[in-house]
Amino acid sequence: MKILITGSNGLLGQKLIKKLKNDSEITVIATSRGENRLSDKEGYIYRSLDITKQNEVDSMVAEFRPNVIINTAAMTNVDVCEAEKDICDSLNVNSVQWLTNASIKNQVHLVHISTDFIFDGTAGPYREEDEPSPLSYYGLSKLKAEKIVLDSALDASIIRTVLVYGIAEDMSRSNIVLWAKGALEKGGPINVVDDQFRSPTLAEDLADGCILAAKQKAKGIYNISGKDQMSVLEIVKSVSEYWNLDSSLIKPISSSTLNQAAKRPPITGFVLDKAIRDLGYQPHSFKEGLAIVDQQLTEAV
Ligand SMILES: NC(=O)c1ccc[n+]([C@@H]2O[C@H](COP(=O)([O-])OP(=O)(O)OC[C@H]3O[C@@H](n4cnc5c(N)ncnc54)[C@H](OP(=O)(O)O)[C@@H]3O)[C@@H](O)[C@H]2O)c1
Repeated sequence: MKILITGSNGLLGQKLIKKLKNDSEITVIATSRGENRLSDKEGYIYRSLDITKQNEVDSMVAEFRPNVIINTAAMTNVDVCEAEKDICDSLNVNSVQWLTNASIKNQVHLVHISTDFIFDGTAGPYREEDEPSPLSYYGLSKLKAEKIVLDSALDASIIRTVLVYGIAEDMSRSNIVLWAKGALEKGGPINVVDDQFRSPTLAEDLADGCILAAKQKAKGIYNISGKDQMSVLEIVKSVSEYWNLDSSLIKPISSSTLNQAAKRPPITGFVLDKAIRDLGYQPHSFKEGLAIVDQQLTEAV
């Protein structure tokens, strides 16, 4: 089986490469914008691919004829999406059209990654069939992309996920666990919202969910997140407890005091029954996830 990954320099992209490159039944074609930023370049093919360029997408898919494409590339900074709507549309919506067209033409199964931000956060945890109602332009862009894929004639999996954490090399952005750990280690007080709830997702779990969907060519929408629904404050307190950091530095605040460009859904998190039953997905608890991150940080030193 040939699997082409987009956005392979990102957090999920790197985890997918690590998990797939030693699978003797899979040829991995890793693609991302610009150079390959992973230090380990063995066991997979790397090509530069900007998915906003339709001609690049067409020629890459025609050249490799993958069985599956896993599309992890996206504009993921929610506030930047609010300010730069055209760029957000180009990457999060139009590119998905290019990938969908190329996948139909070359009979590829597309695994596309979506988000809890398609919901308004009034009724989480959400099931796959719940009604989306995005509050932000990022959420709207991801919902439009889902529609492109689902309304097409394509065999595809939509993998929805929530607040992904983990470590990867040379990352272009941080995540809740690394941010909280770093800020508490520096000793500064940190403001943390206590009125937003999420099911934080270990990047390895998300990669596993994508691989399960890819291997089974699963059709439809699947929730893939961590199994614990927690407030952001509880998430950060768990980080401080795990690494024995000073929890008195954590200052609870309400979302209304933040002046963020994009609105966040208050309560998300996912019901995972479908993915557990149909895909065989086995998520870690948040505590287990922290232990895995800790192990990786130790190995990286
Ligand atoms: N992270 C979360 O908390 C979260 C939550 C819900 C859903 N998701 C979804 O999960 C997916 C993976 O997220 P992630 O955390 O792995 O994101 P990420 O770390 O930001 O990775 C995205 C990667 O895509 C690359 N990219 C950007 N523009 C590109 C283009 N035009 N062509 C090709 N590659 C491009 C980026 O390159 P550079 O590194 O060079 O910028 C980056 O490496 C996304 O679809 C996201 O919407 C994420």
